[in-house]
Order: sequence, then structure tokens, then C-alpha cells
Amino acid sequence: MNTQEQAKRAAAEAAYEFLVEDDYIGIGTGSTVNHFIDVMAERKPSVRACVSSSEASSAKLKKAGFEVEELNDTGNLPVYFDGADEVNRHFELIKGGGGALTREKIIASVSRRFVCMVDASKHVDPLGKFPLPVEVIEMGRSAVARQLVKLGGSPELRPNVRTDNGNPVLDVYNLDLSNAIAMEDAINAIPGVVTVGLFARRPADVLVTAGDNGVETRSRRR
Ligand code: A5P
Repeated sequence: MNTQEQAKRAAAEAAYEFLVEDDYIGIGTGSTVNHFIDVMAERKPSVRACVSSSEASSAKLKKAGFEVEELNDTGNLPVYFDGADEVNRHFELIKGGGGALTREKIIASVSRRFVCMVDASKHVDPLGKFPLPVEVIEMGRSAVARQLVKLGGSPELRPNVRTDNGNPVLDVYNLDLSNAIAMEDAINAIPGVVTVGLFARRPADVLVTAGDNGVETRSRRR
């Protein structure tokens, strides 16, 4: 395991303390979440069922012996574990590098506590070194792209990718994300946008960061 993977694993181990047994658990997508599922598989918590943000995470959870249910059947969730592509000091995030942003945003919106696990390289200020993922309806792809250019962005179609919802993803470079809430609202208002991977209106609640000096866990002031 290289150093970054070790950090992701360390963050996942530390985040495990927020797992609420005998209840539903929201599970995101990505390599950090894969470590978290590995930790769950080793520690074998009593879990009512998991709700996952992707087919990939659902398959990994089932393989590890955990029940996976549809969000429509569970109602709200006590806790949601996921990674992020970038995070700032306000716990606002860029997500969607793995294409699971829409289901991630839905799960985050119904979870009482969003525990975000990152390695230290994900901390930036302002957000935006990582291109901002935007899931779009296929027939509106070019129209959305033109609006994103008007907002100052440089959108690029992610090649050969369809989300689990069957949609393409635009990766948007050069946007000014210093006011992340305003940009999230502006992009959400473009017809044809399914989801923008900015998590500013609903940021993380707990941030677990693993770096050279160990793991730091911080909670957002509300
Ligand atoms: C999935 O679409 C993303 O939002 C991931 O949560 C994000 O890309 C973090 O992935 P890693 O844990 O693989 O860095």
C-alpha cells in the first residue's frame, strides 16, 4: 500500500468510531470508502442494512456480508460515510470524481451526520484545483456546457463514462469557487443539470483527515 492509500485506510479506521450499530448506514463511493468497507468486514458490526451511493459499493458491501437496501425503503439515515475529492475549511466539498455524485448528494441530504474521510492532500482553499463534476441529461449536454462557460468555466466531457443513472458527466475547470454556495446554486439552476458535485449547501459534519502526523477528527460548528 502506498502512502496515500495508507492515509485513506487510517482515515477509514478512525471514522469507524462514528458507526451506529443496529441501524441503517449510508455508504458512499471511492477508494477511501472501499477501505471503510474493508474495516467493516474485519470488525463485523451489527448493521440493520446499508444504503449505498453506487452499484460498485453495493456489490462490495454484499460481498462482505452486509444487507443493502434502497433508500426508498429506509427513510432518513443516522450516519453517512464517504470520501471527497477536495475539502475546504468550511467542510465544503467537491465530489464526483467517481461519478457517483447524484446518489451521494441524495444520501447526504437525508443523513443526520455526514462523516467525510480524506487524506491530507484533499485539503485546499479555495476549492477548484480538482475539476468540478456536473452530471447532465444527455440531450442538454451542450446547452449546459455553454452556460458553464458563461459562469467562467471550461467544461470537458468525461470520455466514455456514464453514471449509474445512465448520464454523462462534464468536468469543469477554472471556475471561481470562492463562494461555493453561490456557485452551487447557479449551476443547479441550469436546465439539464442533474447534479453539481459541489457540497456546500450540505457540507460534511465531521471531517476525518489522515496525514503525516496521524489522524485528525474535527466537527463542523453549526
Ligand atoms: C465518488 O463519486 C466521489 O465523490 C468520491 O467520494 C471521491 O471521488 C473520493 O474518492 P476517493 O476516496 O477514491 O479519493
